[in-house]
Amino acid sequence: MKKLLSASLMCADLGALRESIYQLEKAGIDYLHIDIMDGSFVPNITLGFDTVNTIKNITDMPLDVHMMVNEPGRFIDNMKLGADDILCVHYEADIHLQRTLDKIKSKGIKTGVALNPQTPLTSIEYLREYMDMLLVMTVSPGFAGQKIFTGAFRKCEDARKMLGESMLIEVDGNISLENGKKLSRCGADMFVLGTSSLFLKDKTLIQAAEDFRKVL
Ligand code: DX5
Ligand code: ZN
Repeated sequence: MKKLLSASLMCADLGALRESIYQLEKAGIDYLHIDIMDGSFVPNITLGFDTVNTIKNITDMPLDVHMMVNEPGRFIDNMKLGADDILCVHYEADIHLQRTLDKIKSKGIKTGVALNPQTPLTSIEYLREYMDMLLVMTVSPGFAGQKIFTGAFRKCEDARKMLGESMLIEVDGNISLENGKKLSRCGADMFVLGTSSLFLKDKTLIQAAEDFRKVL
């Protein structure tokens, strides 16, 4: 499967978002990763539904929306997403996950399920037919700039074994050049790039994206 890069917009210069998105497009980035938090499921609040809809109006790049909110099913209609976009919800945040995935699919949007570091892969065993993507969180969600958890590589390898080649596996959190390279070998095919490899003081977005592609 083609390796995909997803730029984490919470790490971008929000004062110059339009220009950053234009640069990310030029850099050949495949998706824009948008983190939505509620201050309850995770102890932070970042981007929101209006941000998603605004971004939708300024670019044709596909969106990779990562909802870190409790009961995400309540908010699906708040975003104008299409067939190329992925809407990812947390297993831990929704006791009616199957219904939520069904609702996302019925709107023609691609579905993703995110798992916190400690959540076993078996939790999605019976939901595979409802999923286009598994997001293996490689840090506890909520903040940029954290260190990868030690079980991330083994979990990613196990996920690939369990799910076969057809499921998209995304990794999110501390995806540096080194961790990205290792995770790619463990079977990951989509990489959320934030402060660890893309939004850097000493490199342009175009240079950083090029450097990341080289290690895959
Ligand atoms: C939260 C975010 C973060 C972050 C990734 O879900 O997606 O994981 O922006 O960037 P790093 O970890 O490299 O700062
Ligand atoms: Zn994320």
